[in-house]
Amino acid sequence: MQVLIMAQGIPEEIIDEIRQRTDLVGLAGEYFKLERRGKNMVGLCPFHNEKTPSFTVSSDKQLFHCFGCGASGNAFSLIMKLENMDFPEAARFLAARAGIRIPEEKKLKTAADNFKEKIYKLNMLALKYYAHQLHNSKNGNKAHDYLLKRGIVHDSIELFKLGYAPAEWTGFFNFAKSKGVSPELIVKAGLASPGRDNSYYDRFRDRIIFPIFSISGNVAGFGGRTLTDHEKSGPKYLNSPQTLVFDKGNMLYGLNFAREEIRRQKKAVVVEGYTDVLSAYQVGIRNVVASLGTALTENQSRHLRHQAETVITAYDSDTAGAAATWRGLAILQSTGCLVQVAELPEGDDPDSYILREGAEAFTSLVDNAKPLMKYRLEKLKESFNLASDKGRISYLDELMPFLLAAVNQVEQDYYLKKAAEELNVDEEALRSELKKRRRSSASYRFKENVQQAEQKEIEIKPEEKILISLMLQSKEIADKGRNLLELDFFQDQRVKAVVSEIWESLDKGELVSAEKIINRFSDQQLSSLVSSIATDPALQDLPDQIAKRMAGDCVKRIYQAWAGKKQLVLQKRIRALEAQGNEKELELLLKELQQLLINKKSVSTRLEEGGDFNG
Ligand code: UTP
Ligand code: MN
Repeated sequence: MQVLIMAQGIPEEIIDEIRQRTDLVGLAGEYFKLERRGKNMVGLCPFHNEKTPSFTVSSDKQLFHCFGCGASGNAFSLIMKLENMDFPEAARFLAARAGIRIPEEKKLKTAADNFKEKIYKLNMLALKYYAHQLHNSKNGNKAHDYLLKRGIVHDSIELFKLGYAPAEWTGFFNFAKSKGVSPELIVKAGLASPGRDNSYYDRFRDRIIFPIFSISGNVAGFGGRTLTDHEKSGPKYLNSPQTLVFDKGNMLYGLNFAREEIRRQKKAVVVEGYTDVLSAYQVGIRNVVASLGTALTENQSRHLRHQAETVITAYDSDTAGAAATWRGLAILQSTGCLVQVAELPEGDDPDSYILREGAEAFTSLVDNAKPLMKYRLEKLKESFNLASDKGRISYLDELMPFLLAAVNQVEQDYYLKKAAEELNVDEEALRSELKKRRRSSASYRFKENVQQAEQKEIEIKPEEKILISLMLQSKEIADKGRNLLELDFFQDQRVKAVVSEIWESLDKGELVSAEKIINRFSDQQLSSLVSSIATDPALQDLPDQIAKRMAGDCVKRIYQAWAGKKQLVLQKRIRALEAQGNEKELELLLKELQQLLINKKSVSTRLEEGGDFNG
């Protein structure tokens, strides 16, 4: 079977307790804004790009469903998706949040879970090793002095857990090995590489170490700034390679520290470098994260949008105009953030600017950041000679994609008017040019990124859907359904799995809830199906008689669909046997067919008389 039972070592009672003590509305509200709409709460979906809210959270049912991309589930699935965790990780996360202790778990974890955890643990060991080196070794003192000289204060060194990797080839490697860590794991964590003749060498040597934390506070990887001057020592900054727990394009440095302040202000400042984050933080500007030197990715943008409404970039003056930067900003905007750009003086980055001009000056730069569109158009204008026809045409060419990517019609209109003035062209002409391009060019327009189903779609008939919904709401209906139907009457394996969960729960005397079912499976589609079935407003709170009549009707259809198919199969085989002259088996099959036809009729009449469901 494709579905997986996922409790993985965490006792069912604990999972239940976590569920009971977690309010999905409150939980989701910690990540993004929700507003009340009728019985439900709605908000912008964190899993796809949208400008009008279609993400719905039902407080009654403790389920969420996005009518845009189909994402859905319960508190556990929400955390799994938002925090990129697997089920046990999410359960632990929610348990900690609710103050529930999970007893020591043994066995049953997958190899990948174990590996992830081992890497996190080893990373923590490395963090401690590097910190120890910084504070207790001779060269570490040199590194320490370097940090202080750069204006990084003691408190920041402590809070950000900075360290020093000594100028040795096997310093950490030998240390980890002496603690019983396998070379394989050290390599998998990206902390050392295999050399010649079965040897290994440290990745980070003679570097200041910046641990990079995941939102939940695990050490996902490291950045290291070289202290060696000559070029042979490699790049100025070296990061962990991609590992099972570290993906540069998915991380924002400092987010674990900045998250609360970002949420409070609904505003995030994005800088490029580690030292920019530190400098800002230690002067009290605490909503700052770094994109680790690359242009913003879609994943990073989503992380930001989960926390903030406005994102202000404060990049090094020399990267600000790069093509990759523009692309990153467009991506950021396309996820629904309000993007503003803070401009630093030539030659500065936030770190140098704060050190020289102070916190207030930087805060004021951030407060006076320009809307992305405005800033973009200014820069564009500077790079063309608008007095010449050629310049004006090139300007227009570059301008169009940006107008197309405007946050909304108002913004587009506003800047279109402005551009028309500047170019001294007719506004309407510009507008129709824009229309033309809208059709032909997709650049800078980031399509709504509907999640592609990796798996085969679940095949479910309407009658199956309705019956499952009704069975989830009434023990009586579930009971009758079980008496009249068999699992095999449902075609799709995953639909069968859901029905089987419902029926099995009857033996324990307690009807399983949709939310609980979702917990037991890892399958996204299945969880989406169950929560959409369970939250379908058309099937809620029906009068008893109507619910029963509908259920009876569904049972009939399900049975007949199955019986009809079965009949065809039998008839085909009977014809084959007749041709072969296999009398004995033929007789058996004919009997089977006869019985089938009788049942088919009796199920129909029984249900038509309403006896079984209303009696
Ligand atoms: P910068 O070169 O601007 O770093 O790169 P910085 O923080 O200003 O450096 P110093 O220490 O003050 O001289 C910004 C960010 O880009 C990434 C790092 O994340 C760095 O913090 N980067 C830079 C790399 O990953 N590799 C590099 O070789 C350089
Ligand atoms: Mn910099």
